[in-house]
Order: sequence, then structure tokens, then C-alpha cells
Amino acid sequence: MSDQLIIFDTTLRDGEQSPGASMTMDEKVRIAKALERMKVNVIEAGFPIASPGDFEAVKAVADVIKDSTICGLARALDKDIERAGEALKNANSGRIHTFIATSPIHMQMKLRMEPDQVLEQAVAAVKKARQFTDNVEFSPEDAGRSDLDFLCRVLEAVIDAGAGTVNIPDTVGYNVPEQFGTLIHNLREKVPNSDKAIFSVHCHNDLGLAVANSLSAVMNGARQVECTINGLGERAGNAALEEIVMAVKTRQDIFQCNVDHIDTTQIMKASRLVSSITGFAVQPNKAIVGANAFAHESGIHQDGVLKNRETYEIMRAEDVGLTTNRMVLGKHSGRNAFRTRLSELGIEFKSESELNDAFARFKKLADKKHEIFDDDLQALVTEASVEATNERMRLVALKVCSETGETPNASVTIELDGVEQEGSSEGGGPVDAALKAIEKMIGSNTELLLYSVNNITSGTDSQGEVTVRLEKGGRIVNGLGADTDIVIASAKAYINALNKIMEPEERSHPQTGDV
Ligand code: KIV
Ligand code: ZN
Repeated sequence: MSDQLIIFDTTLRDGEQSPGASMTMDEKVRIAKALERMKVNVIEAGFPIASPGDFEAVKAVADVIKDSTICGLARALDKDIERAGEALKNANSGRIHTFIATSPIHMQMKLRMEPDQVLEQAVAAVKKARQFTDNVEFSPEDAGRSDLDFLCRVLEAVIDAGAGTVNIPDTVGYNVPEQFGTLIHNLREKVPNSDKAIFSVHCHNDLGLAVANSLSAVMNGARQVECTINGLGERAGNAALEEIVMAVKTRQDIFQCNVDHIDTTQIMKASRLVSSITGFAVQPNKAIVGANAFAHESGIHQDGVLKNRETYEIMRAEDVGLTTNRMVLGKHSGRNAFRTRLSELGIEFKSESELNDAFARFKKLADKKHEIFDDDLQALVTEASVEATNERMRLVALKVCSETGETPNASVTIELDGVEQEGSSEGGGPVDAALKAIEKMIGSNTELLLYSVNNITSGTDSQGEVTVRLEKGGRIVNGLGADTDIVIASAKAYINALNKIMEPEERSHPQTGDV
């Protein structure tokens, strides 16, 4: 049995299924590059048949990522598999992941199919996928609630049909660690050709057990774990990649496999990137990537750590890439220093004009903010990529008046489809007034689900990074904006979200409905 644990990241697919976590193609490519730098084995980039946008995003990721295998999800239907095959055409290494539900409740209520029909369709799907690639993964959806004997029959048949990876999902997060570990053990024992495939697991976190279930499966012979950065995912999310990786790395005395190929120092950067793109904040006490994960508050702990780090620390903060956010550049830094630092952060420019544009933004920021930190640079690049997308609307100017005892008001100038418009409004505060002024002009009739501001670095001159989440007719989008002035950052974030909601998008969900 292999001693390497295959890390399969599904942030861009299952992670994106979290309501409100939808990502643009550029955002997906940026996250994929961060995962490639971390050296994850497989990146599930999306569900190509879901929408033209999903197809293009999987294709774009497959076009640029060279070191990780790129995977596309497909239901066990010819049209899905063909679309996934097409999206992965240019991948250096491409995988098709096809699935069909095997639990009684899903087969009867959702698929309205008999078990034998499901088995037949699963085999046909794997054979179809093998026409596009030798690298095929099959998942019996809701395996955690499926009948063991039926599951064994399905797995034996799909392995015979050419599935090199069989993935066992606990789709609804119902299993508990000992039971799930035993399930993997039993499947590996009972399926006659189990040695011909890698066993993978995909656990949801509805009972807070996704990581524990995955690790229990690993102890019972699973050699691939499907996981997401920050545990993002459908409902309560998936197993968190950072927790799986650091648990296996830290407890090498327990696990019979390793994650030595993973560059764990990239974890923190990837976590921040995903959080800033999706607007899903990481709770401070979250394991590995939370702000407090390596902070020692109590005097006794601090004293112990100073005497010997290992008294209270089981991992080194540096191993997950937590370094002090150092001051890197200032207003006198030149283009070369700027380009070099961004390249150290893994950010490359497609063209000289893109570099020039980012450098101009940097100079503007350096005029307002004395010290520029790594996180400022990351935000600056996020901003540039937001504005580089073909947006119909942009912020031209904003003026707010806020005074004790007076009602705040804002005047905003925007450009919509090349035409400038000006509007004003009062509000409960300057941010409220600015957003109301924009809404008065646009009349989007969206509902604001979330408004959050995070300081990117410390200090009162820090940039504020604002996330605005809007909903219209069931569609949810996130807008981002960063500026040293949080009213401007808020207006930018609101406009970014409105731009996204104005784009037509018809999208289907992998686990429901037909396309
Ligand atoms: O949760 C699930 O069952 C899935 C499958 C598509 C693997 O996401
Ligand atoms: Zn899932």
C-alpha cells in the first residue's frame, strides 16, 4: 500500500457549493495556483456541465496548472462526462470524477431507479469517462447510508470498468469515526478487486466529524482524502485540508502514510486567499489557520513556551506559513522590488501592462499608507483582478458628509455602460448613505445578506477589506473592495457585487435536478 496520502482539494467545486461562496474564473485560477504551490495532488476545479462559467473555469484551471492533476465532476450521464472531457482537454494530467447515488433513500426518492439500474449506469459512466482519460474516479453518492453488500457490488463493477480511484462520500455528514473507519476496512476486505483501486473519502461536517471521519478512514487504508481550504463546502462544509494535512504530519507516530510532498508553509496564504475571495471569515479559534491558533494568552502558557516551545506547542507556526507580516515595501520602492516581492508571493503578471497597472496602484497606496505589508500586496492584486474583469459599472467618485448630531449623506458618481451618473442619499451612517445612493441609481432590488469589514494589517492607516453579499431570486454573489477609506472600500465592494449579479448565469447543482 502506498505510503503517500493523496490530497484531493475540492475548494473550487464542493467549496463553491457553500451558499454565497461563488467564485469568478479569475478567482478560481488564483486559488488553483495557490494549491499548486502547496503541491496538492488533485484539484477538483468544478462541475463543467453546471454552466458555461463553470466549464470555462475548469478549462482555464486545466490550461494553466501543470503540476497538480485537474479534475472535473460529472454525474453518471454521457452529456456530463463529455463536457468534463472537453473542459480537461488541455490538462497536463486530467481526471474525470463521475458519481451516482447508491443509498436506498437517494435511489428511491431522488433518482427513482432500481439498484441494478444504478449499477449499470455507474459502470457505463466509468467506461465512458475512460474514453477521455485513464484517470477516472467514481463516487457512490451517500455511501455512508448505503447498503454494504450493494456498495461492494457497485465498487467491484466500477473498478473492473476502469475506475482507478473509488471515493466513499459521507454526503450528509451522518457517520461517526469508528463506524466510518470500519466501513472503509470492510469495503477493502470484501470487494474482491479492492487492491486495484485507491480508496478515497469525502466527508461532510454536519456533525462536526468530517476531519475525524476522514482520519479514521486513513487509519483503515484510505489513501486519498477529499478536503477543502478552511473546511469550506456544502452546508456545514467538508473536511478542512489544513487539519487533515497537519494531523497526519504531526502524528507520524500514528499514521502509516505521510504528506511529505505537501508544502505546508503555503497553508496560511491559501487560507487567507480563500477567505478573502469568498468573504467567509475564518473563526479566530479555528484549528491551524485561526488568528488564535498559535497565540498563547495565559501567563503560565507563555512562560512555558518561552522556556521550551514544546511545553504547549505541538506544531511550529512557521510550518503552516505563519510568519510575522513583515514590512516589505514603501513609497520609494521601485518596480523591480515590487515585481520581485510579488513573485516571491507566487503572483506573476501576464503582461507588462498588468504589472504597470498594479505598480501604479501600489504607488497610490504607498502615498496613503507608509508601510506596505504582504497582505496589502495580496489585497491590491485582488482589487486589480476584480477591476480587470469586464465590469459594466465602476466607481468614479464618492463624497460623504458625517458629523455629530447630523444625518450622514453621500454623493456618488458611477459609470454604468460608459455613461456617468450621479446620485445622493442620506443614511444611518456614511457607508449606509453611500450604498443607498448607489442603489437609488441602479434599482437592483437585491437583498444584502452580509456586510463585513476586516482590517488587512494593523494600525489605523490599514486598508479595510470589505465583503458585501447580495441575493436576488435565489442567486447569491460576493463583492470585494479594499481601500484605506472604508466608505470607498464599501462602495467598491457593493459595485463589484452588483456587477456580478448583472451577469446572466444559469447554473445547476451537481446533486439536484437535471441540466
Ligand atoms: O458529498 C458528496 O457526495 C459529493 C460527491 C459528488 C462526491 O460531493
Ligand atoms: Zn460533497
